[in-house]
Amino acid sequence: MQLMHDVAALRRVVRDWQHSGQRVALVPTMGNLHDGHLSLVESAAVQAERVVVSVFVNPLQFGEGEDFDAYPRTLEDDCRRLDGRGADLVFAPGVDAMYPGGTGAATRVEPPAALVDTLCGRSRPGHFTGVATVVAKLFNLVGPDIAVFGRKDFQQLQVIRRMALDLNFPVQVHGCPIVREADGLAMSSRNAYLEPDERRRAPALYRALGVLVNAVRQGGRDVAALESRARAELEGAGLEPDYVSLRRPEDLAPPRGGERQLVVLGAARLGRTRLIDNIEFELTDGGSW
Ligand code: PAF
Repeated sequence: MQLMHDVAALRRVVRDWQHSGQRVALVPTMGNLHDGHLSLVESAAVQAERVVVSVFVNPLQFGEGEDFDAYPRTLEDDCRRLDGRGADLVFAPGVDAMYPGGTGAATRVEPPAALVDTLCGRSRPGHFTGVATVVAKLFNLVGPDIAVFGRKDFQQLQVIRRMALDLNFPVQVHGCPIVREADGLAMSSRNAYLEPDERRRAPALYRALGVLVNAVRQGGRDVAALESRARAELEGAGLEPDYVSLRRPEDLAPPRGGERQLVVLGAARLGRTRLIDNIEFELTDGGSW
């Protein structure tokens, strides 16, 4: 496995691979890798002959007062964890390589408002512009055939799919299932911020989403009541809910009637940690929304 910081060297290696007929999968990350990331890398290795993992803490997607400075940077450990898991190359550029003109006035990729003025985008203004911009840049730099993302960041995945479509990137975007701890908590680099007592309470988010899914499966259709019950459960467990929301997976709009595929998404604050999670589900036995 090679580690590269330099864009020109990266382009050379990837071009050689593709010229010899090998497909390249990209797994974009911000490092501090956990088993969830490793599952993305393993999926990438099944889908392509070569796997590039990028490690870059992207300043553009952090708002003022968010954890850009505190975000754990653990490149050596990350490389150790990746070794033998199917990655061929780790691309870890510096900020200057990613933003040669500086970050302040950099050209940005702005996703459609309908996808970002909602859910996490409402409490993190500019976040998805930062994500779409850096992922578009990574697509330009690496030129992957496939790109692999986690479904935990469900809104991010839909923003990236739409960005790739709208900007004509010849990249197949693939979403991998959420990897959970034994008690249901979705794996996330930010779980490292949780104090022991918070860590014990954190699975309440997944539980509250699960209760809502079961209620819908059993015929519950009063969205406001279902969502407010989930918020009350979160508050009961000592979490500060940001949102709990039932949506259509493809465009993140509220269900309008007739849908069979749904997703419930939630975000809550626990101390200084912001947790997000979601459950995608299908109404079976001829049922629909
Ligand atoms: O999900 C992440 O870790 C980041 O948002 C991503 C996709 C690597 C872009 O910086």
